[in-house]
Amino acid sequence: MTSDIQDWWDKTSEAYQDACEIPVDIHYGPSSPNEDELKLLGDIAGKRVLELGCGGGQCSVAFALRGARVTGIDFAEGQLAFARKLAAENGVEVDFLQQDVKDLSPFAEASLDIVFSAFTLMYLDDRPQVFREVRRVLRPGGTFAFSLDHPLFRKVDLDKLTMVESYNETGPAVDDLGALGTTTMYRYRVSDLHNNLVDAGLVVERVIEPDSRKRYDYDPWFGRWGVYLPEVLDLVPPTLIFKAVKPAG
Ligand SMILES: C[S@@+](CC[C@H](N)C(=O)[O-])C[C@H]1O[C@@H](n2cnc3c(N)ncnc32)[C@H](O)[C@@H]1O
Repeated sequence: MTSDIQDWWDKTSEAYQDACEIPVDIHYGPSSPNEDELKLLGDIAGKRVLELGCGGGQCSVAFALRGARVTGIDFAEGQLAFARKLAAENGVEVDFLQQDVKDLSPFAEASLDIVFSAFTLMYLDDRPQVFREVRRVLRPGGTFAFSLDHPLFRKVDLDKLTMVESYNETGPAVDDLGALGTTTMYRYRVSDLHNNLVDAGLVVERVIEPDSRKRYDYDPWFGRWGVYLPEVLDLVPPTLIFKAVKPAG
């Protein structure tokens, strides 16, 4: 299943990057404030950062521009090619690796200050395993911040604006990005993510559901693909954010 998702992102990368023109920024996704507004990560300069599912590298490059030492991993070579070019255009060094997020073995225990991920973890069939690995690679006191699809968002029929399945339904489902096509994502409830983090030994500090009735001039997904439509966003938040830390002791 994972390799289907990898193939899809490889094939779709160019169309995705062309359509979105995602700004270089530490973003959290559609209809969400960015890091400058949310301030979840504190001072970034000098920090060792790992981005899981870095895509076109816009966040990794933004971390590097703020003085972090950054590694961005993604399994789609198309996305990484875009990311490497973006880093060069911005005059920063970022270590971009083709790597499945499910395998963090290249990273030593307690070697990172921040693990960050934007809109990638919904593609994982085994999030608990990844959360345990994130705990291993973070230094004590280190931060794990990630965003992903709000679970309610994919349950809405975009034309009728009604719920189409139970909130309680979890497991694999079709991820429909309109004109870009479909791939597979793995459904969850907010409580599943929270409890998976706790079970992995991380302390959840914030759960953020940005008010999607607000508009952000830097949001490249607004109105895109017949998915992030204003009338949908007025009703259902597309983005869910967690901040967790590895206990210091
Ligand atoms: C929606 S894009 C987000 C990209 C980037 N984080 C951003 O916010 O623009 C999802 C990314 O996750 C990557 N991805 C999905 N599952 C992955 C996995 N198991 N390992 C590595 N990368 C993965 C895809 O290749 C894609 O680049």
